[in-house]
Amino acid sequence: MKDKTAFITGAAKGIGRATAVALSASGCHVILTDIDQEALAKTKADIEASGGKTTTYLLDVSNRDQVNAVHQQALKDHKKIDYFINNAGIGGKLMPLHLTPLEEWQKVMAVDLDSVFYCLQAQINILLPQGGGNIVNVASLAGKKGVPLGAPYSAAKHGVLGLTKTAALEYGGHNIRVNAVCPTFLETDILEGVPEKVLDFVTNYRVPLKRLGKPEEAADAILWLLSENSTFVNGHSLVMDGGMEAG
Ligand code: NAI
Repeated sequence: MKDKTAFITGAAKGIGRATAVALSASGCHVILTDIDQEALAKTKADIEASGGKTTTYLLDVSNRDQVNAVHQQALKDHKKIDYFINNAGIGGKLMPLHLTPLEEWQKVMAVDLDSVFYCLQAQINILLPQGGGNIVNVASLAGKKGVPLGAPYSAAKHGVLGLTKTAALEYGGHNIRVNAVCPTFLETDILEGVPEKVLDFVTNYRVPLKRLGKPEEAADAILWLLSENSTFVNGHSLVMDGGMEAG
């Protein structure tokens, strides 16, 4: 991965940050994008303190004009972008489907699904003339299973897997691989809205490894999908859930 360039959404915290740190340690120039300016500046400073090279852009992935403008600016500034990681996302509020306000549905759809459509369009338009590249979407196990009290999130993540598979089919012939990771219950800020007793139940009774995952473990999976060690893997959804889905 030495001398490659990677573009990451939601790079300020959690999985995005861990992925940026790991890619930088592998020799990549990392393009960090996020809506959280303060956290973005901290991640940039931390990576550069370890000798890494970064560029940052403020980007709200739910805004299509911003998505297009930032991708164009990043291409202008870096000439070539090898890897894209569509990671930014929100969990949304936990509530029964029949009580979910339209605004909540639309917000989660905008940040978790529309964004991936916008980003993929911008990215494919960069990768086609480049002759290829590699994209990883951060979906969720919620993209394969229903989530009680999380209808918008589950629907959005199912959509992300649909986009992943369709893009893999359409662009594999152009040397562009598109894959997804499907983590569940990793220790990041996104779990803040999940009650402690739910996390205890998940840890003790649902995850055979009897613990929550770590963002660095998601980063390892993402790096593998981006790397030369997975060159025949395309349109795949890599579940990383400590064995939860096995039962
Ligand atoms: P996090 O809350 O730690 O990080 C999310 C990052 O996305 C933050 O830096 C935040 O500022 C940014 N962000 C939020 N809305 C944005 C927007 N509109 N535009 C740009 N950036 C925005 O959460 P985490 O866990 O790192 O989440 C990353 C991805 O992983 C999400 O897509 C999430 O759905 C997915 N995921 C997380 C799991 C977990 O248990 N932590 C499990 C399965 C999937």
